[in-house]
Amino acid sequence: MKRIFLTIICAAAFSAHAQKFDGLDLTPQMGWNSWNKFQCDVNEDLIRQTADAMATNGMKDAGYQYINIDDCWQGKRDTQGFIQPDPTRFPSGMKALADYVHSKGLKFGVYSDAGAKTCGGKPASRGHEYQDALTYASWGVDYLKYDWCGCEDLNSQGAYTTMRDALHAAGRPVVFSLCEWGQNKPWLWAANVGHSWRTTTDIYPCFDGIKDNKTWFQWGVLQILDAQKPLRTYAGPGHWNDPDMLEVGNGMTVNEDRAHFTMWCMLAAPLMSGNDLRHMSPQTLGILTDKEVLAVNQDALGVQAFVYSTNDNVEVWFKPLAGDSWAMCVLNRNKDAKKISFDWKNENVADSFSKRDAHFDATTYSLRNLWTKQSAGDTSKVFEAEVPGHDVLLLRLEKM
Ligand code: GLA
Repeated sequence: MKRIFLTIICAAAFSAHAQKFDGLDLTPQMGWNSWNKFQCDVNEDLIRQTADAMATNGMKDAGYQYINIDDCWQGKRDTQGFIQPDPTRFPSGMKALADYVHSKGLKFGVYSDAGAKTCGGKPASRGHEYQDALTYASWGVDYLKYDWCGCEDLNSQGAYTTMRDALHAAGRPVVFSLCEWGQNKPWLWAANVGHSWRTTTDIYPCFDGIKDNKTWFQWGVLQILDAQKPLRTYAGPGHWNDPDMLEVGNGMTVNEDRAHFTMWCMLAAPLMSGNDLRHMSPQTLGILTDKEVLAVNQDALGVQAFVYSTNDNVEVWFKPLAGDSWAMCVLNRNKDAKKISFDWKNENVADSFSKRDAHFDATTYSLRNLWTKQSAGDTSKVFEAEVPGHDVLLLRLEKM
């Protein structure tokens, strides 16, 4: 009896310990990450200036929180194995930098990798997981992106679970962002391990294309978008599919940036801006901070959108929203403009996953065009519009 009791106590203690931080990331994480624009060219001035920009340019007000340094902040490990930041790039140290970011009312994130070295060849966390987690907690880290370079002989679920447990043992709540590129189908096992998981290889600022880097490929917006379609039932509050960070403001056209951003909102994807926040055009800032569009991403239901119909390379997507509302997005994948016509009373939108449906013959919804900020009538009339090439039309439907 005593032994059974002890076993139960041990099991309870273990399971209380072995978990991710719950209650975080209940709507998709919003922030900034250095990689897409700066790659390894990171330093503390850039991070401070980026925090200053986010705190004052409207992004913080719109809900952006995290300032995350990606690869290449690392220097060497000290004689006891504790990781140090690169002393030239981060001379004031990481604690001072985290304090600065926190003083702006923002949160601070870093990057590591489950292997011995990061993708950029810097010291990574293999064999140092608990030590690194303690170090991050002592600095005040709120977010960890954890990569997968040099991990060929590791089991993905095991490696990420080790880091999850290390973070939990260190005691400071951390959003844990898995980045193993979908190689081991993390959507099947990572809901209890992390708060989001990358589903594909890296994005690059291209709307429709694949970039051949000889040993690996990068994907454009449409290629990544298509890979999310079968994964929607795995995502929800606190455990998101991550189609990679934003390329808004990094070289695509304004139409393409708008379409990219809108689709990431429809997907309930993490929104990590990846451009230079210190210097951006009004159009880029306008896209990143549109509160009505962001409300689609941050909707409390946390349901990823689905493709309702496809015609002539034009897709109609629906996303159920809290309070019996819907978002409807028309994505024109073509380079040239397309006219669309949508006769609501002949359409029956039903989602068995979220158990939501919209019977337009029985219920009328008002339509608001979220990008133009104009009413688009209601569902009692046929909806007609022209969508420019590589662009979207985004409507919010509210029951009348
Ligand atoms: C991988 C990740 C990227 C970035 C780089 C850093 O490619 O997928 O997002 O973190 O490593 O080296």
